[in-house]
Order: sequence, then structure tokens, then C-alpha cells
Amino acid sequence: MIRAWFPTLIYCEPLMASGARFNAGLAAECRALRDFDGAGRAWSRRNYPGGYTSYASMNELHRFSSTFALLERRITRHVRRFAAALDMDLRGRKVRMTDFWVNIMPASAAHSLHLHPLSFVSGTYYVVTPRGCPGLKFEDPRLDRFMAAPPRRAAARRANQAHVTYPARAASLILFESWLRHEVPRNRVDAERISISFNYNWS
Ligand code: NI
Repeated sequence: MIRAWFPTLIYCEPLMASGARFNAGLAAECRALRDFDGAGRAWSRRNYPGGYTSYASMNELHRFSSTFALLERRITRHVRRFAAALDMDLRGRKVRMTDFWVNIMPASAAHSLHLHPLSFVSGTYYVVTPRGCPGLKFEDPRLDRFMAAPPRRAAARRANQAHVTYPARAASLILFESWLRHEVPRNRVDAERISISFNYNWS
């Protein structure tokens, strides 16, 4: 008998039922933030080539914007559900959003492999996802331990492949444990992809 143990859970659900109108307003807010945030644009030139992120400049948007505060309340319900699916014992503490920031990726921008330190659940909500724009690509967290293992067949079952890519879908939400490495491949579409990302801790 063979059984699978130690699964890596990734959560994906729609967040906004009437997403199109809400996201149009949210996209305008994200672009206005980029126009306003000179420090963020300067940081992005050095650390987020070709794109804009407010990660290092305006990363607590749920404290300053009613739109982001509304999203925070909605997302928190999903984070609780995700923590329950992981059988996490929060010891009476609450899940709490610590960071909430904007990412705008025009044509040819990419976001290389990374993880999210100092949090336990992270994720992304998609605002503008032009047809053909890159998804969110996750890496098998055991990849550096495989050592002498042979590669997987190209036609391997998805759960046995070393990478999985979730398409970016406007109005939907993806959650993952913060230690799971991920990247956004280069945007090959001549249109901006807009997402907002967040970190949670429990305290
Ligand atoms: Ni990330």
C-alpha cells in the first residue's frame, strides 16, 4: 500500500462575487498609488525591474484605504478556513494581516523565486489579469533534498511534478503557507497585470 503524507496545501477561491466593477475601482486605486508613491517607484527600479510594487514603501494599505480594509475582512475569513484545513492550533490567538501591498507588472516584468519571511500564511488577490498574463508558479518545497533522484516524467501526475502554476484570475484569491517558494514568470503580454499581496501572522 502506498499513501501520500506531508501534503503542501494551496488554497484558491473566488473572493468577490461581483468582481468586475469592484476591481475596476480597485485598479484605479492601485494606479493612483503608483503615481503618488515616489519612494516605491524608486525602490521598484532597483528591486522589481520593469514593474511597481509598494512592498517596501506602502505595505499596510488595509490601515489607510477603506477598499483595502474591506478586502482584509473578506480575506481573513478565508485565512481562518485555510488554517483550519491545515489543522493549525492557534492557541486562542487570532490570524492578523500584517502587510498588504500592490504589484503592477507591465510587459516583460517578472518576479523571481522567493518566500515570505515573518508570516505564516501569505497570498494574492488578482485585480487585472489580461489574457495570457503569467500565473503564480510554486516550487516543490522538497526540491533541494532530492539529490540523486531521477527527474519526473513529463506526463507525471500533477501532484508529482516539481512545479505547479496557478493561472491569475481576476477576483480570485490564492493562499499558501509563507515558506512555500513561488515566482511570477515574465509577463509576455503587452498589458499590465495588477495584483495585491498580503502576509498574515497569528498573535
Ligand atoms: Ni510572493
